[in-house]
Amino acid sequence: MSSGALLDDRVRVRAPGKINLFLGVGAVMDDGYHELATAFQAVSLYEDVVAEHADGFTVEVHGSGPIGVADVPTDDRNLAVRAARMLARQTGYRGGVHLRIDKGVPVAGGMGGGSADAAAALVACDALWETAQTPAQLHRLAARLGADVPFSLMGGTAIGTGRGDEVSPALARGRFDWVLVTSGAGLSTPSVYAELDRLRAEPRLDIAPVEAPPTVDVETLHALRSGDADRLAPALANDLQAAALSLRPDLGDVIAFGVASGALAGLVSGSGPTVAFLCDGAGAALELQVTLSAAGMSALHAHGPVPGARIVG
Ligand code: C5P
Repeated sequence: MSSGALLDDRVRVRAPGKINLFLGVGAVMDDGYHELATAFQAVSLYEDVVAEHADGFTVEVHGSGPIGVADVPTDDRNLAVRAARMLARQTGYRGGVHLRIDKGVPVAGGMGGGSADAAAALVACDALWETAQTPAQLHRLAARLGADVPFSLMGGTAIGTGRGDEVSPALARGRFDWVLVTSGAGLSTPSVYAELDRLRAEPRLDIAPVEAPPTVDVETLHALRSGDADRLAPALANDLQAAALSLRPDLGDVIAFGVASGALAGLVSGSGPTVAFLCDGAGAALELQVTLSAAGMSALHAHGPVPGARIVG
């Protein structure tokens, strides 16, 4: 076997987690999903997926500390395994794959860790099996695997519409620094959407009514283009936050504590329970991380935007 073939026996792909800088949730569509208008940013917490030739489809999952891998399924429910099987079916590939996932994105945290696994598995298997899918073909498979999977393929900063799976790049200048506070028990995405529907059905003044169709606030787009964190802070918004706080009222205290400790802004990331704090540069983020850690919280520092799923050495 040549050394080239040996190198091809194993492919490592890195895919990023994400923060929703803006998440407008509209009405439920015919397919049961909510219509979304979102601004995603890929951040420097990564899932690494290594794919090796195998007869069947197997996965092992590793991660430590605040990441919490115990709840990740290692059978056919695993999103990376589903991605690999879907690619094999699509291309007629007859073999299998063994996947090793090293998790750096909090599990069930609202940061798209499972979606990143799926995106990474698609790219890794396509390279390992030499199935030569075009970006458009990979995108179509990604959208079938989950609403956030196409964005994890793309990375950077992007606008997502439809279920969140119709993505187009957004102009963003510079770098934004984030501190992410993770929580022990995750929140299930469907339960947070269901809670938002329940809250919206109640006559309340503090929950925005359904805007049809939702759009990303132009001020969020201007702030991203300016690269100015001070400007982006008041333009961060998440319609799912009220629902996440209703299920997990303690997250409100986390947000208040982070903002009182120097963050420019704090919001629930996606469906939560991870809370994302925007900081005034890397130094301020490190200071906030120390303060939050000293108060007993699990705090990670990340920056964005970073690239989407890609093969690494
Ligand atoms: O596509 P994904 O599997 O990530 O979505 C998980 C769940 O989140 C869906 O089953 C649905 O309950 C909810 N969801 C939604 N509308 C979206 C995206 C997700 O209702 N646009």
